[in-house]
Amino acid sequence: MHIALVSLFPEMFDAVSDHGVTGRAVKQGLVEISHSNPRDFTSDRHRTVDDRPYGGGPGMLMKIDPLQQAIAAAREKAGKDAKVIYLSPQGKRLDHGKAVELSREQALILVAGRYEGVDERLIEAEVDEEISIGDYVLSGGELAAMVVIDTVTRQLPGVLGHELSAQEDSYADGLLDCPHYTRPEEYQGKLVPEVLLSGNHEQIRRWRLKQALGRTQERRPDLLQGRSMTAEEEALLAE
Ligand code: ADE
Repeated sequence: MHIALVSLFPEMFDAVSDHGVTGRAVKQGLVEISHSNPRDFTSDRHRTVDDRPYGGGPGMLMKIDPLQQAIAAAREKAGKDAKVIYLSPQGKRLDHGKAVELSREQALILVAGRYEGVDERLIEAEVDEEISIGDYVLSGGELAAMVVIDTVTRQLPGVLGHELSAQEDSYADGLLDCPHYTRPEEYQGKLVPEVLLSGNHEQIRRWRLKQALGRTQERRPDLLQGRSMTAEEEALLAE
């Protein structure tokens, strides 16, 4: 997958392109990341990338021309079928389902805004979808774009090793994850649940599912609302 980034701060993305699961995906060529910086498309001496909002008020907007040209450059790199996403608090909220959906695209162009935002006409003309990563305001779209890159990359075939498949991710089955334990067997007087030491894989699977169901019911009952239960899940919850 090609991910073309449009941002005034391309260095920020080193965090995902150089480290961890996403860094490995880039090294293996499973993800290709490119950058287009609106500042490179300015023509004035000060390389101006912001402009005043009509109607007044505090703050500035991103200047239209450099941003439009940076998006055009990103289209060149990502291909004509690339889906253009603008990260903003006004967007549709990102969730697991959306990450899976985006992972099926050939290419994404992620536009990270700065200042108070972007001219609405540019969004209408250039953007296919507006995505928010949560109900709070960030100082720019870069962190949100990195969240999209991370969660989408995890869903790409070959990115996660067999020891950790995307299907086992929390949320993949609509539930929160079960608790996990590692050595030592006793930590601060607390023991690892005995079933996990039993070697009985079926019992362990059932215990984990029950824990996941219980936690979801307790912490995020909203997740269970639109989700149908299997007969086994009903039984485990009722136990
Ligand atoms: N830019 C600023 N805040 C944001 C948010 N919550 N989600 C996506 N992009 C943003």
